[in-house]
Amino acid sequence: MWLFLVFFLLSSCEKAKLEEKPRAEISTKELFKLRGCTYCHDTSRPLVGPAFLDVAMRYKENEKEDLVKSILEGSCGKWKGKWECMPPQRVGKEEARRMVEWILHLKTTKPPASSL
Ligand code: HEC
Repeated sequence: MWLFLVFFLLSSCEKAKLEEKPRAEISTKELFKLRGCTYCHDTSRPLVGPAFLDVAMRYKENEKEDLVKSILEGSCGKWKGKWECMPPQRVGKEEARRMVEWILHLKTTKPPASSL
């Protein structure tokens, strides 16, 4: 239990630091932390939701807008009941597009992207 608390405190410190950064300087990777995606997602490890690498393997470039919609409006049952639902995320449309772009590029990065 206390371990969880330490982890929580550490991650909220990190988040506070990011919140002070000017927006233009925030990388997409940092954006995933700032917007809380990393509580449920990582690049190659499935957590509460599917690993972003699995998302990248499953969707094509022309399906980007579907993923943006899933992020903005939430998503249920797309992963055959393997996961719970994702609630709608409080992010802007442009931010969601930036994130989807990053996620889809994971399948082309070599060596595989490190954890978020
Ligand atoms: C509370 C946990 C949670 C959070 C926070 C969360 N997700 Fe998810 N995410 C999920 C789950 C669960 C699914 C699987 C949904 C399904 O089966 O349809 C998912 C699915 C997805 C998918 C695939 C959607 C699809 O149509 O197949 C993308 C992309 C995604 N998340 C991105 C994000 C981004 C970006 C953020 C941060 C803004 C985020 N998620 C925050 C739990 C979460």
